[in-house]
Amino acid sequence: MSHRFGFSKGCLHAEEVSVSELASKYGTPLYVYSENTIRNNYSSLAKNISAIDDTMICYAVKANGLLAILKLMAELGSGFDVTSAGELQRVLKAGGRAERCTFVGVGKTREEIELGLRRGVYTFNVESEDELWLINDVAASLRKIAPFSVRVNPDVDAKTHKKITTGKAENKFGINYERVLDLYKKAASYKNIRPRGVQIHIGSQITETGPFVAALQKMIPLVLQLRDHHKIEFFDIGGGVGISYRDALASSSTSWWGKNTQHITLQKYALEVTPLVKDLGLKILFEPGRSIVGQAGILVTQVLYIKHAGRKVYTIVDAGMNDLIRPTLYEAYHEIVPVKKQNRKTHVTDVVGPVCESGDYFAQGRQMPEVRAGELLAVMSAGAYGSSMASNYNARPRPAEVFVAGSSHRLVRKRESFSDLVRGETF
Ligand code: LLP
Repeated sequence: MSHRFGFSKGCLHAEEVSVSELASKYGTPLYVYSENTIRNNYSSLAKNISAIDDTMICYAVKANGLLAILKLMAELGSGFDVTSAGELQRVLKAGGRAERCTFVGVGKTREEIELGLRRGVYTFNVESEDELWLINDVAASLRKIAPFSVRVNPDVDAKTHKKITTGKAENKFGINYERVLDLYKKAASYKNIRPRGVQIHIGSQITETGPFVAALQKMIPLVLQLRDHHKIEFFDIGGGVGISYRDALASSSTSWWGKNTQHITLQKYALEVTPLVKDLGLKILFEPGRSIVGQAGILVTQVLYIKHAGRKVYTIVDAGMNDLIRPTLYEAYHEIVPVKKQNRKTHVTDVVGPVCESGDYFAQGRQMPEVRAGELLAVMSAGAYGSSMASNYNARPRPAEVFVAGSSHRLVRKRESFSDLVRGETF
């Protein structure tokens, strides 16, 4: 989970391309991705879990479902975790295969189940009993047998932000650990469903290995029973490996992880979970999202105004909370750096967008170098849950998005236009 953004001759570069050049060519706000960062993160995970005989990495599309990213992941050999019909269709459009997709989510509709069955997804991760019976009904009507895996709620604390923790009993996700065996037993009498595996996912942006290990230790006795009595073939251990959002630029040097020994890495994660699952005699599935794309993307924005209001200084930029909602939704920290290094003194400022909400900020009370109107800032580590959570609030078109690989770059998503914003509306 290192990345390929760094300064060369005082200018921020994405791989070998200057970010200012990208901004002048494609405009701002602009999402810029480093293709080789994505490749490296994927290969690093694949390499670190290679002690397990049979694995499938299912990239979590919700982290960033850009077709260009999905196509790259499919080429790298990844499967996919999809959470809606739309995500499944994106994967198929980008050249991914349904039989390498896990269909997850607490609220699948009949139509979504039908699509998943027709396309032949690898498994439906089931999150309630009612859903399982509906899957059976839909499969019967299509004369199919639906593969399923129960998402177990292991009631383990992931020690992350309350809005992205999913494996505690009070979260809406999964089925209570205690009820799972009975459910597989009951399911055996239904003709159009067949157990294929079992799944957990305890949360996101988890920065230590302890919660993963605790969840696996709790799960293993259950997994063995399911293997022996219900012939499951896989155990899906979810995603959730966190990235460091601090000192994002220092992480482009190899020494950085050494300095932050507390922080999780894909390597540390793999080192701890691999021994627990490699001898289960099952295929092991991983559903990483953020750890693959988080540090592979930045949001480039132009400073519009500097406003002094009493003792406060606002740096008003052209990107808003509609483009990247993480800071205000999760109090998330994203490093913000001037795209050109200047020898200026630092000051304390709020970096805010143009949206009519007090929550429209990227940073509050941030100590950073002074910038001037017209200059560019980069919001780092914005590759995951940035573009995929963007909206059109305040009738703002979503940004253009660009892929960089080495010294080449290409537009992978056009900036939206006014006609995109009103498409489908009548009056
Ligand atoms: N598998 C399942 C079933 C999930 O629900 C998720 C994420 C993942 C895998 C991937 O987790 P990751 O490896 O990316 O942590 N919008 C929030 C994060 C929401 C995560 C939702 N589920 C954020 O911006 O922090």
